[in-house]
Amino acid sequence: MIYYITPTYPRPEQIPELTRLGHTLMHVPRIHWIIADDQSLCSTNVLNLLRRTGLPFTHISSPKPYVYKGTNFPRGVSNRRAALVWLRENVREGVMYFGDDDNTVDLQLFDEIRRTKKVSMFPVGLIGDYGISAPIIKDGKVVAFFDSWPGSRTFPVDMAGFAVNIEFLTPTATMPYSAGHEEDKFLMSLGIKLDDIEPLADNCSKVLVWHTKTVKFKKPNLKIDIERISKLPKYEDFANL
Ligand code: UGA
Ligand code: MN
Repeated sequence: MIYYITPTYPRPEQIPELTRLGHTLMHVPRIHWIIADDQSLCSTNVLNLLRRTGLPFTHISSPKPYVYKGTNFPRGVSNRRAALVWLRENVREGVMYFGDDDNTVDLQLFDEIRRTKKVSMFPVGLIGDYGISAPIIKDGKVVAFFDSWPGSRTFPVDMAGFAVNIEFLTPTATMPYSAGHEEDKFLMSLGIKLDDIEPLADNCSKVLVWHTKTVKFKKPNLKIDIERISKLPKYEDFANL
C-alpha cells in the first residue's frame, strides 16, 4: 500500500488542485490518501471531494501554530506531522510519500516508489534555478545532489523527491518548523546514510514528478463587474419585441 500524504490549506485554488490530484490518484491501485488540513477543523468541501474519489482515505487536520502565520514560513509542517503520527499509530507496512496538493505526478512514479525498501529518491522537475533537483548517481549509487538552493543540507532534495518504507519510520522521525530544511531534517531524523538511498526513475535519469505552481487566483473586482453587467444586453434587446 502507498500512503500518499497531502498537506493542504483553504484558498480559491484548493479544490481545483485537489480535484486534479485526486483524478491522478484514482488511477492508482493500492493507494491510501492522507489529506492533512492546515486548519482547526477538517474542511467539508475537501471531505466531499475525498468521498467522491472512492479512494481509501484518512482526513485529519492540524493547523500551523500562530507564530508561523505570515511570509516565508515553513509550509505544511504541522499537518504533515499529524499525518506521521497517524501513520505510526495505525500502519505497520507500506510506503509513504509526501505529495503536495499542487504537484504533477506521472503514474509511473507509483510503480517505482512501491518498491522502496528503505528510502528511495528520484528527480523533481520544474524546480529552483536549475529547473530540476536530482540525486547524482555513480555505479548505481547516490553520490551527490544537483539542487540549486544553496542552504547547507546533507540531503538537498525536495519534498516530492523521496519515498520511505514505513518500517523505517522510526519514533524519532519528525519534521522541523524550518523553511527550506524540512526535507533534510526529516531524512536526518530517520538516521539514514547516503548508502541507504535507492535511486529510482532509471537511475534518476527521468522526471516523474513536477513541482508545478498554480498562478494565484485574482479575486474578481466587483465594482468593475457591476459596471460591465449593467452594460450587458437585456432580454428585451434580444427578444425582437
Ligand atoms: C516547497 C516544497 O516543495 C514543499 O514541500 C515545502 O513544504 C515548501 O517548499 C516549504 O519548504 O515551505 P512550495 O511549492 O514552495 O513548496 O509550497 P506550497 O506548494 O505552497 O506548499 C507546500 C504544501 O504545503 C502544499 O501541499 C500546500 O497545500 C501546503 N501548505 C501550504 C499548507 O498546508 N499550509 C500553508 O499555509 C501553505
Ligand atoms: Mn508547491
